[in-house]
Parts: sequence; C-alpha cells; structure tokens
Amino acid sequence: MIVIQDVMPLREAIHTRRRKDEAVAFVPTMGNLHAGHLDLVRVAGERGSAVVVSIYVNPLQFGQHEDLDNYPRTLEADKAELQKYNIDILFVPDDRTMYPRGVEEGEYRPGHFVGVATVVNRLFNIVQPDIAVFGKKDYQQLVIIRRMVSDLAMPVEVIGADTVRERDGLALSSRNRYLSAQQRAVAPGIYRTLREARDALQRTKVDRSKIETEGYRKLVDLGFSPDYFKVRRQEDLGDPDPQDRSLVILTAARLGEARLIDNMEVELRRQ
Ligand code: PAJ
Repeated sequence: MIVIQDVMPLREAIHTRRRKDEAVAFVPTMGNLHAGHLDLVRVAGERGSAVVVSIYVNPLQFGQHEDLDNYPRTLEADKAELQKYNIDILFVPDDRTMYPRGVEEGEYRPGHFVGVATVVNRLFNIVQPDIAVFGKKDYQQLVIIRRMVSDLAMPVEVIGADTVRERDGLALSSRNRYLSAQQRAVAPGIYRTLREARDALQRTKVDRSKIETEGYRKLVDLGFSPDYFKVRRQEDLGDPDPQDRSLVILTAARLGEARLIDNMEVELRRQ
C-alpha cells in the first residue's frame, strides 16, 4: 500500500496500474474506518484488481453547526486496518489539494448533498476509477451519486454494498460513539422498527402512509426523536406509485446527541 497526498503522483501510480489492464476500484471515505467501510474495501477488491481508498474529511458537507472540528481523525489506525486488505493506494489529500480556491467558492454555502456530490465528482476526476463502491447505509447519498454519474455520463460503475450491522442490528457508524450505554441499548430499535415495517409492507393491502405513521410512532415510543420515517421508491426516492415493486423504507432519528440514519430495501411480490 502506498500513501499519496498529491494529485500528480496519484495519477502516475494509477496510470502504471491501468496500463496493466487492471480495473481501478475506488472507495471514498472520511476515515475513522470501521467494519462497514472495510467491507466496501473487500467488495472493491473483488471487483477491481487495483484498489484505491481515499480518506478526506470534506468540509463542504458539514453544516455550520455540525461536527467538522470534532470529526474523528485516526489516520494511523486506519492505515493499520487497510494494510490487512492488500489495497494498492491510500489517497489522503489535504484541503489545498481538494479545494485550491478554498471551500467558500460559489455563491452560497452548499447543503450537505451538494457538498457530497462536489467532493465525489472531484475525487472521480482525480482517481478516474472504473468502479466505485458506496454503502447502502447512506441510501440518499448512493442514489444521488448514481444520479450524478448517469446525468453527467461518467464512465464509472457504481456499486451499492449492504449495510454492515452490529449483532443486535444497529448499523455501524462513527456516530454510534455519541451514544450512552443506555441509549446504545435502545438504538437497535431502529432496525427492529424497519423490519416490522418491511414485513407489514409485504402483507398485501396495507396502506403505505399507515406504515409510515406507525413506524414514526414506534420510534417515538422507544425514546427517539424521529426526523422522518418514509416509504420511497428505490430508484429515485420518489413517492411510490401503486405499481412500484422496489421500495425502501428510510428513517433518521435522534437519540440524545446522535442522529442515527438507517434504511431497509423492500421487494414487493408481483400481484
Ligand atoms: P463515510 O461516512 O466515511 O463513509 C464512507 C463509505 O462507507 C460510504 O459509502 C458509506 O455509505 C459507507 N458506510 C458507512 N457505514 C457503513 C455500514 N455500516 N455498512 C456499509 N457501509 C457503510 O460517506 C462518506 O464518508 C462521505 O460522504 C464521502 C462519500 C466519502 C464523501 O465525502
């Protein structure tokens, strides 16, 4: 594994590998790697013969009051984990490399997903991967990146990897460390509620909006402050039409300091 900070040496290293006809598979991250990230690295290793991982805490996607300064930076531990996966290149750009004209460029401070699309677009242009792997854990992010790749005809195959969970169902996230022991015990309720909603959806003749209200209410009863609990179409997160079969249930809910997000795909049988 070589660690590279700048664009030109990165391009050179990738160029050498591409000449050998290897597909370049890319996993962008913000570091503080856990088993969920590492599973994306494993998937990338199966699909491409050269694997590039990036670690960059992207200031553009943090809101004014969000935890940019406190976001955990654990580069040495991350390197040690990545060593085990036989990756080729670890790309660790700094702010000057990613945003040479500063992060305040543009007329407005972008919202979260504009910030994500911007950084992923730049990373794709720098790395020029054939394949890029993202987690379904961040479902809206995955849908937005697929959309960007399709709208801009980017020559990248986007792969969505399944969410890695703790044994009790809680999705792995660096935000879980904000949970107290008591909250940690409540947190898997999100996964249970999603599964119950999925089972209810698969029963015929249930009303989607009823499932949404029930899921929301269950989360409140468990002690969460939910932002939303919604049934959407997988493809574009639009409101499902009656004939849509591939759905996803999405939720975001606060528990103390932590805002937890999770989701579950649902395939309805044809009637
Ligand atoms: P980060 O939060 O570090 O996540 C990097 C990748 O790991 C994302 O694709 C995310 O969906 C995936 N991931 C996180 N938790 C997971 C879990 N429990 N199971 C499976 N995959 C999981 O997402 C970002 O960084 C940034 O927005 C980024 C795309 C790097 C742009 O800055």
